[in-house]
Amino acid sequence: MKKILVTGGLGFIGSHTVVELQNKGFNVVIIDDLSNSDISVLNGITKITGKKPEFHQIDLKNKDAVQSFFKDQKIDGVIHFAASKAVGESVKQPLKYYENNIVTLIYLLQEMEKNKVTNFIFSSSCTVYGQAEELPITENAPIQPAESPYGNTKQIGEEIITDQTKVSNLNAIALRYFNPIGAHPTALIGELPLGVPQNLIPFVTQTAAGIRKELTVFGNDYNTHDGTAVRDYIHVVDLAKAHIVAMERLLFHKNKNNIEFFNIGTGKGSSVLDVIHAFEKANNLKLNYKFDKRRTGDITAAYADTTLANNELNWKSEFTLEDALKDAWKWQQKQTP
Ligand code: WQD
Repeated sequence: MKKILVTGGLGFIGSHTVVELQNKGFNVVIIDDLSNSDISVLNGITKITGKKPEFHQIDLKNKDAVQSFFKDQKIDGVIHFAASKAVGESVKQPLKYYENNIVTLIYLLQEMEKNKVTNFIFSSSCTVYGQAEELPITENAPIQPAESPYGNTKQIGEEIITDQTKVSNLNAIALRYFNPIGAHPTALIGELPLGVPQNLIPFVTQTAAGIRKELTVFGNDYNTHDGTAVRDYIHVVDLAKAHIVAMERLLFHKNKNNIEFFNIGTGKGSSVLDVIHAFEKANNLKLNYKFDKRRTGDITAAYADTTLANNELNWKSEFTLEDALKDAWKWQQKQTP
C-alpha cells in the first residue's frame, strides 16, 4: 500500500484530498502545524472513511523536525498544501508569507531528496496568471507579475520546483487551482475560515446564517455580463480528486516531463451575482447584499481551459456550482449553533 504524505492535510483542500486518497486505498500520513486548521478535522476524516490517518503536528519551518520525520518514514509521494494563503494578509506581512511558503518548501524538497522521495504534487494557483489576456486560460498563458506576496510565493514555488527537477530525480506536478468552494457532501468536513472570511463563499454562507449582517459585492462596474467579477468556482471534492489522479500519474511513471502544470477548474465562469442568485435558488433563501467599490488587486475575470487536465489526467469536474453551494450551506448550518 503506497504511503502518501499530505502537508497541510487538516486544511480545507488538504482534508478533502486525504479522504479521497484513503478512499482510493492509499496509506496517508498528515503533517499540519494547526496554525490555520483544527484537530477536529481528523475526526471528520475518520468518520467519513472509517480510517484514522497518521498525524504529526509539525511546523515545516522546524528543519530538525522535518528531518527526523523523514528518517522514521517510508514515503512514496508528497502532496504539499501547507502554506499561508490569505492574499490581503500577505500584503501586510510579506516576510511571514515568504518564510512560511518558501522556506518550508525548500526544507521539504531537501529532505525528499535526501530520503529519495521523488513524487511531488504542488498546490499552485490561477493567481500566477494575473488578469490573463485570453479567456479561458490555458497553461501556456503568460505568468504575470504577482499582485501579492501570496501569489508571488506560488510563482517562486513553481520556479524552485522546476529548477530542482533539473538536477535531481524529482518528478513534480503543479496544480493551478481556480476557486475552490463547497464542502464534503456528508458535511463532516469543510472550510473553517478564521475570523472574517476573505473569500466569497464563506462570507455568503455566514451572511445566510446571520453571522454577518450583509454581503458586500466588491464592484459592479467590471466589463462582464452583469458588471460583477467572474471566477471559476470548483467543488473542493472535484479538486481533491484531481490530486489523486496527478499522484497516480507520477507513481505509474505516466508523466511526460519532470515538471508538469495543470489548470484545475470547471472551465465555466460565474459572476458574483450569478453565485448569489444560484445560492438563493439552490438553498431557497434570500441573501442580504449591497454593492460597493472594487477590492484592490482583484481581476475582472478568470476561468480555466481544462483541456490538458481532461486529456492528460483523464480528469474533469463533475459537481455543479449549485451542488457546491448546497454543500457549502449544509456545512455552514452544521457549524452554526
Ligand atoms: C471571488 C470574487 C471578489 C468576497 C482567491 C485567492 C486565490 C485563489 C482563489 C488560492 C472576487 C468577490 C469576495 C466578498 C465579494 N486561492 N468578493 N465580496 O480573490 O478570486 O481568489 O481564491 O490559490 O489565491 O485570492 O477569491 O473568493 O476572495 O473572491 O464581492 O465579501 O468575489 O471581489 O471578485 P479570489 P475570493
